[in-house]
Amino acid sequence: MANPPSSLQDKVVLVTGAAKRIGRGIALRLAREGARVAIHYGNSEAEARATAAECGGAPLFRANLESVAEIERMFDEVKGTLGRLDGLVNNAARFTRRDPLEVTEADWDFIHSVNLKAVFFCCQNGARLMRKTGGGRIVNISSLGGLRPWADHAHYCASKAGVIMLTRALAKAFAPEITVNSVAPGVIPFGELDAEATRMVQATPALRGGTPDEVAGAVVYFLGASNFITGQIVAVDGGLSQR
Ligand SMILES: NC(=O)c1ccc[n+]([C@@H]2O[C@H](COP(=O)([O-])OP(=O)(O)OC[C@H]3O[C@@H](n4cnc5c(N)ncnc54)[C@H](OP(=O)(O)O)[C@@H]3O)[C@@H](O)[C@H]2O)c1
Repeated sequence: MANPPSSLQDKVVLVTGAAKRIGRGIALRLAREGARVAIHYGNSEAEARATAAECGGAPLFRANLESVAEIERMFDEVKGTLGRLDGLVNNAARFTRRDPLEVTEADWDFIHSVNLKAVFFCCQNGARLMRKTGGGRIVNISSLGGLRPWADHAHYCASKAGVIMLTRALAKAFAPEITVNSVAPGVIPFGELDAEATRMVQATPALRGGTPDEVAGAVVYFLGASNFITGQIVAVDGGLSQR
């Protein structure tokens, strides 16, 4: 017997920061699940084109997410190109390490402009578009750093804790048509690990780092779930949040 169609079949889903790494893994997985994936990128045009080709010729959308005007233009382009939006995965983010005693205003804004402000305005613009066709699903990629305090990443941890509370507040604001959930990855390594990441992997009960496809699996779950599941956070972290 043929497999029943996936609940994501032909759903239009925009993934931000989808050129590389975790975002790429999410986009590829969604394409395999039958979704019509829209690929957002910032600077990585060549990698975005490669990901889009692997997703069966997915459309590409470029925007600097620091700018609300560019976010608005991107959602207008998604509407013009695809006509609707069923799912939004806010994956794009920045990550820096800085002693909190040394953090400058520019360091703070560098992180928060993308990790928190852009996530809010992508949720706002995505929800406005989803409501035109009856609703949709938003998944925000937060981080274990939004659940646990990391001393040299206080500015990053604050931005991701913000994403988690944004997820919960917008789940109430956008119900019942739109759900808002979050996936909080632990260590998802690419290439060689630095000393800090090595220590974290060693402390992970699963005794390994995770993969982009493991993050994507949780994203797929939320995108396909009913509207009875909203405002929830799932850590995909090999148990590290339980330490
Ligand atoms: N990797 C991990 O271990 C880990 C752990 C916990 C949480 N996470 C979270 O998982 C998500 C993906 O992680 P990752 O390591 O794959 O991320 P990443 O490679 O650091 O960043 C993903 C993408 O975000 C885009 N981006 C950043 N600033 C942008 C801007 N101003 N405008 C447009 N795009 C921008 C970049 O796109 P372009 O390259 O096209 O410019 C980049 O490729 C992030 O939310 C991250 O915080 C990751």
